[in-house]
Amino acid sequence: MKAWLLKDFGLNNLEMGEVRTPEPRDGELLVKVGAVSLNFRDKAIVDGIYEPHMVPKPLIPVSDAAGTVVAVGDSVTRFEVGDRVNSHLYSRWLDGEPGPDEPDYCFGSPLPGGLAEYMIIHEDSAVRAPENMSDEEAATLPIAALTAWYSLVDFGQIQPGQTVLVQGTGGVSIFAVQIAIALGAKVIATSSSDQNLQTVMNLGAVAGINYRSTPNWEDEVLKLTGGKGVDLLLDVAGGSGINQSIAATKAAGRIAQIGFLAGQTVHLNLMPLIFRQTTIRGIAVAPRSSFDRMNLFLNKHKIRPVIDRVYPFEKAREAYEHLAKGAFGKVVIKIA
Ligand SMILES: NC(=O)c1ccc[n+]([C@@H]2O[C@H](COP(=O)([O-])OP(=O)(O)OC[C@H]3O[C@@H](n4cnc5c(N)ncnc54)[C@H](OP(=O)(O)O)[C@@H]3O)[C@@H](O)[C@H]2O)c1
Repeated sequence: MKAWLLKDFGLNNLEMGEVRTPEPRDGELLVKVGAVSLNFRDKAIVDGIYEPHMVPKPLIPVSDAAGTVVAVGDSVTRFEVGDRVNSHLYSRWLDGEPGPDEPDYCFGSPLPGGLAEYMIIHEDSAVRAPENMSDEEAATLPIAALTAWYSLVDFGQIQPGQTVLVQGTGGVSIFAVQIAIALGAKVIATSSSDQNLQTVMNLGAVAGINYRSTPNWEDEVLKLTGGKGVDLLLDVAGGSGINQSIAATKAAGRIAQIGFLAGQTVHLNLMPLIFRQTTIRGIAVAPRSSFDRMNLFLNKHKIRPVIDRVYPFEKAREAYEHLAKGAFGKVVIKIA
């Protein structure tokens, strides 16, 4: 089969090649990949800044895929040939609390990913792709949508009328805007672009703050919330901006620490954290059971993924470059 192979760190070392098509073993599905979507994680893996010691070389990259089952191994019962499925990043985290070694079983590193004509997914970790979505749309769900969903629902327990802050207009944040609004929450969004803020407001956000022209954006959040702060903040920026996130969140409020766009280490001011009694929870996507629940919700609320652009298989490198420049919502690569 044709596959993109990461032979060493750096986008120049991502090369199209031919490898043996895998065969499904006991409990496994062979999936003809229809489309994959890129996440910041995929770019960080190529750049060598995401757990580089865990990246095998060569690697078939990209975790998030949607496609059709074309063969099944022995004892498969949950799916049959012809079913459309999604990959699920934490392939062994099926329900409840995570185990200690979940990152060892992630697609797109260290397990082979979906930037290839075929991919192996164990039936336990496969998720039925929403019927009303194309492969290009369904491929956006496994990390971006599910992280937003888990942060808002499983961790955030957001109630109608509560206020949520999302940072930037990338994959996770745009799904968070759509899901939070469907849950009846009010959304405040930040972005470096006034144009993107306008587009987020068109999606239903109640306010937008440009974090470039308003570097003390937390003050603006306090003004917008009557001095109280938001109920839940989805922090994708990371770095020392966590101190601003604490200031922008209500007393005893919650922060879902999702990303590290501005840095993987922080200088944390403990006194505001203590006085505001903030809960900061590290988020690592979600178990498969949460994915199943999310798909029912997306279907019920007719939420369609916001896709910035779909690239053909041959232009995978251009898709990575697009993500690096910043996309509004998701960047997708069509395979089949
Ligand atoms: N822990 C998890 O489970 C999990 C899951 C998914 C993603 N993540 C992490 O979350 C982060 C976002 O992922 P993604 O896939 O949504 O990325 P993405 O699609 O590449 O989105 C990036 C966007 O974030 C905004 N941004 C960049 N720097 C920012 C900053 N300093 N402050 C606020 N916004 C900033 C920009 O939006 P504007 O152009 O509008 O400014 C940019 O376009 C990454 O660090 C990723 O690794 C973690």
